[in-house]
Amino acid sequence: MTFSSTGMGKEELFRKLEEFRAGDLNWQSGRAFGMVFNAGKDYMEVGREAFSMFLSQNGLDFTEFKSTLRFETELIAIGARHLGGDERTVGNFTSGGTESIMLAVKAARDFSRARRPEIREPEIILPITAHAAFHKAARYLNLRVVQVPVDPKTCRAEPDLMKAVITPNTIMLVGSAPSFSQGVIDPIARLGDLALKHGLLLHVDACMGGFLLPYYKRLGEPVPDFDFSVPGVTSISMDLHKYAYTPFGASLVLYRDKSLRKYQLFACAQWTGYAIVNNGIQSTKSCGPLAAAWAVLNYIGDDGYLEITRKKIEAVKKITAGIEAIDGLYMMARPEMCILAFTSDTINVFKIIEEMKGKGWYIQPAFAYGSSREHIHMTVNYMNTEHVDAFLADLSECVKLAEKAPPSELATLVRNEMAGVNPSDVTDDDLALLLGSGSDLPGEMSDVNEILNGFPPELRERLLIEYLNNLFVVPVRQS
Ligand SMILES: Cc1ncc(COP(=O)(O)O)c(C=O)c1O
Repeated sequence: MTFSSTGMGKEELFRKLEEFRAGDLNWQSGRAFGMVFNAGKDYMEVGREAFSMFLSQNGLDFTEFKSTLRFETELIAIGARHLGGDERTVGNFTSGGTESIMLAVKAARDFSRARRPEIREPEIILPITAHAAFHKAARYLNLRVVQVPVDPKTCRAEPDLMKAVITPNTIMLVGSAPSFSQGVIDPIARLGDLALKHGLLLHVDACMGGFLLPYYKRLGEPVPDFDFSVPGVTSISMDLHKYAYTPFGASLVLYRDKSLRKYQLFACAQWTGYAIVNNGIQSTKSCGPLAAAWAVLNYIGDDGYLEITRKKIEAVKKITAGIEAIDGLYMMARPEMCILAFTSDTINVFKIIEEMKGKGWYIQPAFAYGSSREHIHMTVNYMNTEHVDAFLADLSECVKLAEKAPPSELATLVRNEMAGVNPSDVTDDDLALLLGSGSDLPGEMSDVNEILNGFPPELRERLLIEYLNNLFVVPVRQS
């Protein structure tokens, strides 16, 4: 595979780009409950324009690109005010929830190294609903994850269970507002008490809810305290590229004060080049996302977000009632924002998803883990609110189709082959065999999901890595 030797004409080039994205998820349709957070074309345009205006400003050096410092500090001030902070609150703009979480975990690790040097093997305590980004951070940063179940009825973290696993090595507790998986808010006030009592840090992952929940509260919805108003909360992650509807690459990580944030920062003078001092993981970075986030927030405005939220609250109530009215389906928990999880004891949820996909809907599969069974996940966007009736009508039909669908032969075959096999006896060769050539994206996902769902989590991880390792390779076919 080569690239053009003479340079491609613009017309041909953009035609190719269109061709590339033709097979992508159609998120503009309003029928995708997830993946892209979409508040409408007008808002997107403003984000796009601001993004391209600052595309080539380099966030590496805020002394040369002073705009970056201005944007970032203004966004932090907005975030701090939004989340019960005060003039001591500090933070940074990051590329997304994962980076915000990584940085908060790194700050916790290095803060604890400095303050509690006796700890040799630091641990963080996570409810099973805490986002995978904490596991990623722990694996990258060499920390031990101690996972605890959640209340199987409410799907919220259980402070008593978290308390029971605190050891002299514990450095941080984690709660979510709300959790990605079931959209419920952990009892942050009780976690705050626990953290204070045991001298621990407490991170609240409000990547999903940080921006939106204050609007829910203002509209009279019951929102428990989850932010810096809770004593004991030491850091919060809040994404803008989710429910603030800004273009991707936009999140904030906030700290109660500088004493902890200091440990997030990185400086290096031990090489032969320029002085490196970074807030986050990236060095050279486009200021496009930063400018776009600032622009979209100011364009939609406080009243605009309130109105968007009002519409979403109505839509979520309707969707929840509609799901509960369909025979065989039930909600996994009462949604406290606009994230829904529902499942069935009798119908294959992966088949429902496949049928819905056939009708142009995107809803997301989630695998069984701990007390959480396999389920269907939805994040409700402003652009979805116009499509609620059509969604419920199609869902009802697809549930009936899924009910009638024969069991997957492939999944049954794999299940039988794997019966009684100890996961640690499965070799990489076995996995390669299972994946076949593996250098293509699967068409029908329901079989694949059913197979993965049947595997123990460690094996799922190994299989996914093997798959990815085969997928991102030099393509065989050229187009
Ligand atoms: C609660 C929560 N935390 C963290 C993340 C990770 O965010 P990102 O995908 O922006 O890295 C997500 C993503 O959906 C999330 O829902």
